[in-house]
Amino acid sequence: MTATTTADTRPEIVGMNKIIHAAFRRDLARIDDALAGFPASSSRRAAELTATWDHFCYQLHRHHQDEETFFWPAFTELGVDPATVAELHGEHHVMVAALEAAEQAMATFGTDPSAVNVAAAHRAVGWLRYVLLEHLAHEERDMDPFSDRHQSTRQVKAAVKSTRKAHTEGSGSFFAWLSDDCSPEVRRALQREVPAPVLYLMTRLGGRSYTKTVASIWR
Ligand SMILES: [Fe+2]
Repeated sequence: MTATTTADTRPEIVGMNKIIHAAFRRDLARIDDALAGFPASSSRRAAELTATWDHFCYQLHRHHQDEETFFWPAFTELGVDPATVAELHGEHHVMVAALEAAEQAMATFGTDPSAVNVAAAHRAVGWLRYVLLEHLAHEERDMDPFSDRHQSTRQVKAAVKSTRKAHTEGSGSFFAWLSDDCSPEVRRALQREVPAPVLYLMTRLGGRSYTKTVASIWR
């Protein structure tokens, strides 16, 4: 599949990797903004933010593990530049360290949302956001074009199948997360991956738990 451009020359969102990245960017912007304007010592708001944060962490761990376990080995077999894979692995190590530090700070914040703990959580999430956004941009620039050209290969199809097998928690929640307040570009990209009626049913029925516990917080 070839990437097209929109009127403002940004690359069109094509493929699941960029769709997932858009959800990470949205979540981090939400959490970052919410911590910046956090109502001091609000346990209710802390619990809401913790629910979003826990879901974000789950998806981020899952995504980078899938890349390392299934997709990058498939791309390596297909001949991608090994230097790119090595650089991206290095970025994952930095990102995991930032994620673990943010998880710790967010857990402390969730237990006691004092001004000091809010500030510490905000700093840790801010660092993770910086590290992750740099990494996602690198991956989209240097790995996604290769991935896009090899989607129909046996190796990539096997990698996709393996990720589905590895995650049995239900696609409804996953697609509800991807669809949540998404841009028109992401919506179009999603509908290229999944027929619109199927997407509607999955997100409305299978995604009810995500909608109730996470998406509702931001409406
Ligand atoms: Fe990655």
